[in-house]
Amino acid sequence: MAAYFVTSTGTDIGKTFVTAGLIRYLRTAGTNAAALKPIVSGYDSSVVETSDPAVLLKALGRAVTADEIASIAPWRFRAPLAPDIAAAREGRSIDFEQLVAFSRNAIRAATGMLFIEGVGGIMVPLDGKRTVLDWMAALNIPLLLVVGGYLGAISHTLTALDVLWQRKLKIAAIVVSESERGTVELDDTVASIARFSNGIDVIGLPRLPGGINDHPAFAQIAALF
Ligand SMILES: Nc1ncnc2c1ncn2[C@@H]1O[C@H](COP(=O)(O)OP(=O)(O)OP(=O)(O)O)[C@@H](O)[C@H]1O
Ligand SMILES: [Mg+2]
Repeated sequence: MAAYFVTSTGTDIGKTFVTAGLIRYLRTAGTNAAALKPIVSGYDSSVVETSDPAVLLKALGRAVTADEIASIAPWRFRAPLAPDIAAAREGRSIDFEQLVAFSRNAIRAATGMLFIEGVGGIMVPLDGKRTVLDWMAALNIPLLLVVGGYLGAISHTLTALDVLWQRKLKIAAIVVSESERGTVELDDTVASIARFSNGIDVIGLPRLPGGINDHPAFAQIAALF
């Protein structure tokens, strides 16, 4: 059993895309996989099929039903905002201890590979005093850091690494998921980040055309687990 926390420098970078690709790769290779997306914002009945939990359930070969979604994504909020703000809009809040307990139970119960996708970037607030960083530190499992390939992504990535190192979090791999309309060569971004990554493997995943979701990069990432 191994559990990984999938985090990122921000929202819309590729956490779910990378996690779903890895799950598909691992399942094809005969490995048991599970995934959680405990907190989702911007979630309502009109976006169920394209929501993060649905993408993950489909990769896992599970049905996209209300029960299945609730089982991997219990904290769902309508507003497409930071989760603490989205929760407040509904008169709700995220109970940090419950979130950690939910994650730990899944880690304990996992029989194969478990991926826990965070929400947004590494320091998105969860409540008045805790961010995703505190959630990751409480779980203390290795991270998969997914970053973009846009101009500026290198600095965002090195900033994130510095913060993660300060908290002594272990990073299993950095995945550069190429951004749309990028002006930057993916290989240049990968090589630049690798020069500052203290030996952490940096793997580039090109922007895949619509409908394509497998690529040799997933095998490369899985080989690091
Ligand atoms: N390498 C890639 N090739 C093709 N499409 C990609 C790639 N990486 C990400 N995408 C697409 O970009 C969009 C954002 O990616 P994704 O949903 O994985 O981001 P995220 O980091 O999980 O965002 P959130 O913070 O909302 O959870 C999605 O439509 C996804 O399919
Ligand atoms: Mg996502």
